Amino acid sequence: MIDQILFVLSITCGLTTALKHHATCMNFPSERIPASYPMEDEAYVFDANKHLRLEEPATVFDLASFKDIPHTNRPSGTEVAFAGPVHVLSEEGFKAFRAITDQYRKGAKRSHRQPSSNRGIPYRSKFIQDFVSDPTWLAYASKLAGRPLCPHSFGMHAIQVNYGKPGLKEAVDKWHLDSVDFVMVILLSDITDMVGGELQVYTRNMSGPEAAAELNKKGMDPEHIRTVSYDTGGMGIFCQGSRIFHRVSPVQSAREDRISMVVSFSSPEVFGEDRTRTTKFSGDPDNIVAWEMAKHVAWKASHRLNYIVEHTSADDTSKEEFAKILEDTAAYLTRGAGIVADKIDDHIGHVEEGKEKCANDSCENGGKTEL
Ligand SMILES: [Fe+2]
Repeated sequence: MIDQILFVLSITCGLTTALKHHATCMNFPSERIPASYPMEDEAYVFDANKHLRLEEPATVFDLASFKDIPHTNRPSGTEVAFAGPVHVLSEEGFKAFRAITDQYRKGAKRSHRQPSSNRGIPYRSKFIQDFVSDPTWLAYASKLAGRPLCPHSFGMHAIQVNYGKPGLKEAVDKWHLDSVDFVMVILLSDITDMVGGELQVYTRNMSGPEAAAELNKKGMDPEHIRTVSYDTGGMGIFCQGSRIFHRVSPVQSAREDRISMVVSFSSPEVFGEDRTRTTKFSGDPDNIVAWEMAKHVAWKASHRLNYIVEHTSADDTSKEEFAKILEDTAAYLTRGAGIVADKIDDHIGHVEEGKEKCANDSCENGGKTEL
């Protein structure tokens, strides 16, 4: 089914313009679960009809103009920055997802960016495996993105649950760019009367490790900070988080911990920039990070080469173009090998807390103010 969706949505164009070629999604390795993430019995079986309530937004926030534009019939090539909040889970789905994520909460850890987050649930949960691979869900997310999307190729990235304790004066997640192409952040807690815990986005198109370095040095312009509020649990905000900085502010008070489930997607586009990065700072086991990155690079590189085998001919492709694809693929593999072997650091960095109160580089202490 995933292949069918991609077939409908995929575009393959000639070599005279930028190459576009979409891989088929990588199957989840249900037969190769890492030993440190054993599966458990669960009280729920995922059912898209019962658990999803997929609402489409009227508008999306356009990455080029940084304006709201209509979601339907938007011009082709439009890059969405974020969309929503919209309902994505039914009432029954909210209860089931909350129960499933609660079951695995024992795996939550602190990192230098997040006080408490839980990764790797897709390896442990059949319910989550079925959800992330569900064709209805993927078609919905692909429509929001305006391009085909796959469940993220890294099982550790595919779902992450973040916990925000009320009263903890720390951002639930500091200002950062994602190490994945797109995310849907679904709220799984009761936010009645919650103060703080807001998802905020920085409305500038920025990318790469140099972007965080720039904001740490110069501070963030408050005029570009936009707060996007959830109405209730079970709603989601869709975001091209690899291209706009975002954070979740500290939860000042709430009836319970703020819980958000970040669902990550890989773009199956095999040429052009690959925005997938490892997040070694998260404390994922080394052997799993190496395995996931090696698989990801092998997946994309094999489809680059497959493009030559299946989609070119002697009459439409020059020797220079063939050579370019081969050279670029070799460079892509070499970089991937460097990351796997810890010889290349692909960490994208984050912005330290307090920078958002500093509009320019004249702020005292480099913008380090109390939150
Ligand atoms: Fe994020």
